[in-house]
Amino acid sequence: MILNNTPRDIIFRITLKFLESDISLKLIIDYYTCKKNNFTKRDISFINNVSKGIIRFKSVLDYNIFKHSKQKTIDNKTLSLLYLGLYQIIYCDSIPNYASVNTTIELAKIKSKKSKSFINAILRKNDKNFLKIDSNSSYDKLKKISFGYRKWQVNKLTKDYGIDKTRQFLIQNLNIPKIWIRINTLKTTKENIEEILITNKIDYKVDKFLEYFLLIEKFDRKNIIKKLIEKGLIYIQNPSSGHVVNILDIKPKMSVLDACSAPGGKASLISQITKNNVELTCIDNNESRLLTLKNNLSKMNCKNISFINCDSSTFSSEKLYDIILIDAPCSSFGTVKKNPDIKWRLTEKKLKNNIETQFKILNNLKKYVKINGYLIYSTCSIFNDENENNIIKFLNENGNFNLSKDYKIPSNFKTDLGAMKIFPIDNEYEGMFASRLKRYD
Ligand SMILES: C[S@@+](CC[C@H](N)C(=O)[O-])C[C@H]1O[C@@H](n2cnc3c(N)ncnc32)[C@H](O)[C@@H]1O
Repeated sequence: MILNNTPRDIIFRITLKFLESDISLKLIIDYYTCKKNNFTKRDISFINNVSKGIIRFKSVLDYNIFKHSKQKTIDNKTLSLLYLGLYQIIYCDSIPNYASVNTTIELAKIKSKKSKSFINAILRKNDKNFLKIDSNSSYDKLKKISFGYRKWQVNKLTKDYGIDKTRQFLIQNLNIPKIWIRINTLKTTKENIEEILITNKIDYKVDKFLEYFLLIEKFDRKNIIKKLIEKGLIYIQNPSSGHVVNILDIKPKMSVLDACSAPGGKASLISQITKNNVELTCIDNNESRLLTLKNNLSKMNCKNISFINCDSSTFSSEKLYDIILIDAPCSSFGTVKKNPDIKWRLTEKKLKNNIETQFKILNNLKKYVKINGYLIYSTCSIFNDENENNIIKFLNENGNFNLSKDYKIPSNFKTDLGAMKIFPIDNEYEGMFASRLKRYD
């Protein structure tokens, strides 16, 4: 008998919440797996993997469900149960099909009694009848599903990058991302972390450009990686962020304003690179995210930091800064592999709002950059409208700023304009854009 609050029940609830709200999948998963629910780390990992998998492959699941269903519309509860069962049948090889079916039917008896027979009928189709799609599938097969992207998103990507690159992007994002960690040298050494990984037989690869970034396949069963994170010895971070921080080119004792700072990935790297020898101010307009930022930075031994809870588009200050980093709120479309829900949730209106906010923040903070200082604008979006188009408009309107190109990044990340752009294909890097603007007077 399935009881409430089992991992499968939680996955059902997460999926249902996702279908019925506009909340990010990460926040929903965090809410349902919080400490008070007392799940084991193994349960949490199962909940995370299946919930994200369902959303990553939702269009494949939809294809299979509607192919075998006479009903044209299905209510969200029934759909969530079907996704739960079908995802395990198609994608979880270690779970026998009968277990996936039976556990789902037991749950259906509690959650949606009237649909039990319908769910049973769909799930009991011979699994050979189900279309399985992953990034290795042929393009003909892949075309059967829409990949789950909105048409306007694909059109926009095609306009920015052409058909081939867009296709590669859609396919690559069906993969489950590997995990990047950054060694926090404010608290430990690279040798120490490598020794722990080797002793525990955790395979890793050092990034070819940034020596403190390591790629690991997945979280280990003994939770070594999670314990290192809890102690602040490492931080989950993609090297794309490391390249943005390198562009800042911070010298000791400089004053730096990190204008959209939470949860502190770039701020903590700034502290690490400068060995805390920098005067860092961190702003975020979200109070609870600012609290997470404070906790993260304190856990990682980052010092000399002041925190301000305010809106960077209206922030005012007597003081001018050597460097201002605007890691702007954006669509995060360069991180779809890690956050598969983005493609379902991003609307054109939200994108337009992002672009407006980004420009407002740029326009406000330009006043607080010292002459000969730098304004660095970055996003983890790959849409030109959130990136170079914003910068071109800004430069046209602000003759006292120029695009500075004299920083070191791998040549294939540099755009014709002189900005940095990482397109997330053929590597485990997330999409990222950054440009460095110098104030002349
Ligand atoms: C892309 S995230 C920043 C990630 C962070 N720089 C890091 O490396 O971990 C954007 C952050 O900007 C904050 N934010 C959004 N709009 C803002 C605004 N108008 N003023 C200040 N912060 C804002 C969000 O709360 C969010 O924490």
